[in-house]
Amino acid sequence: MTPIWLENSEALSQYAADHVAALLSAKPDAAIAVPTGATPLGLYRRLIALHDSGAFDGTRAHFFNLDEFVGKSADDPRSYGHFLWQHLFRPMKIRPSQARLLRGDAADTDAECLAFERAIEDVGGLDLAILGLGRNGHIAFNEPGSDWNARTRLVALTEKTRAAQAVLYPDPAEVPAAGLTMGVATIMRAKAILLLVAGDGKDEAVAALLRGIPDQNWPVTALLDHPNVTVLADRQIRRWDL
Ligand code: GLP
Repeated sequence: MTPIWLENSEALSQYAADHVAALLSAKPDAAIAVPTGATPLGLYRRLIALHDSGAFDGTRAHFFNLDEFVGKSADDPRSYGHFLWQHLFRPMKIRPSQARLLRGDAADTDAECLAFERAIEDVGGLDLAILGLGRNGHIAFNEPGSDWNARTRLVALTEKTRAAQAVLYPDPAEVPAAGLTMGVATIMRAKAILLLVAGDGKDEAVAALLRGIPDQNWPVTALLDHPNVTVLADRQIRRWDL
């Protein structure tokens, strides 16, 4: 799997936005899974600009999120749902019926995960899963050691993931202990995958991917078995010589 190395995060974001806009131009009713985190923000800004310039029609697309905190609804400013409405859906004039987001506040999380999987199937499966990358190689909330056959489910959050959220909570005990996440198997069923790699501390996870050997300790290496993956990587993250 050979990454496309971009000069910086701006170039990466532009490349990614062109990639997503090309899909939406070719297939306006495409189903796309979208990530949260710092990495996709530049992509979203550029995609909104392309949308506003008329490069594609977003009114028929379907969007899904990759993960959510248990106990959080999209009304909570600390939820991933809120992040996506703020940074992508609202600026792109996406209607609520176009975005099926995991409901972290669902009373029955198992039923919610099943309903979410069914909603993906109902639109013909994911055309594209856009992924960020965790420093430990996680994708969505699939942490090292995750079962690669798993579909959307409830997972316990690692202490590191919880610590990264702590800044948003005055009381550390309030940081969610669990999340809902698309499983590796859900992600692998997408027709195409776009992996975005930017930000500090990602070099080890990329090195695991470049070794080319699937390794459950590095969930991102599951993608090695997918036939249609595009990896965009910011050259600035490289801490080794190739
Ligand atoms: C979180 C999210 C992932 C995301 C990752 C990387 O753990 N659950 O979906 O890919 O962070 O975030 P960032 O892009 O901020 O490095």
